[in-house]
Amino acid sequence: MLKRFSISLEEELLTIFDEHIMARSYTNRSEAIRDLIRKAFIKSEWQEDKLVMGVISLVYDHHQHKLQEKVTLVQHDFHHQIVSTTHVHMDHDNCLEVIVVRGKAKEVQDLANRLSALRGVRDANLAMSTTGEHLH
Ligand code: NI
Repeated sequence: MLKRFSISLEEELLTIFDEHIMARSYTNRSEAIRDLIRKAFIKSEWQEDKLVMGVISLVYDHHQHKLQEKVTLVQHDFHHQIVSTTHVHMDHDNCLEVIVVRGKAKEVQDLANRLSALRGVRDANLAMSTTGEHLH
């Protein structure tokens, strides 16, 4: 059953939100709000020590000094969590690295944070899926 409620927002924030809706082709604001709430709720579950599988995608410029080396070093710090890594040479400058991970949500998040914090990393995303099992 759907319930209605109204929201007060600053105009600038609403403009940003409407742009987000357009960009993602939502048919209305309600659906976009529902998605944001779901995402926020799911994210709070990731704070736990749940066992997850995830995919980290990373875009970086390999010309950046020692970046390639640092990306590898961080991954070796998390070798227990990393299932596989695929490196794609996107174009002359950019590399895409797709890292499949398995571990506690916190560890996986930590790895993604470490990688995205490296100077020269242009884009970093983590997508997690839960198995429903808990690690104890
Ligand atoms: Ni490359």
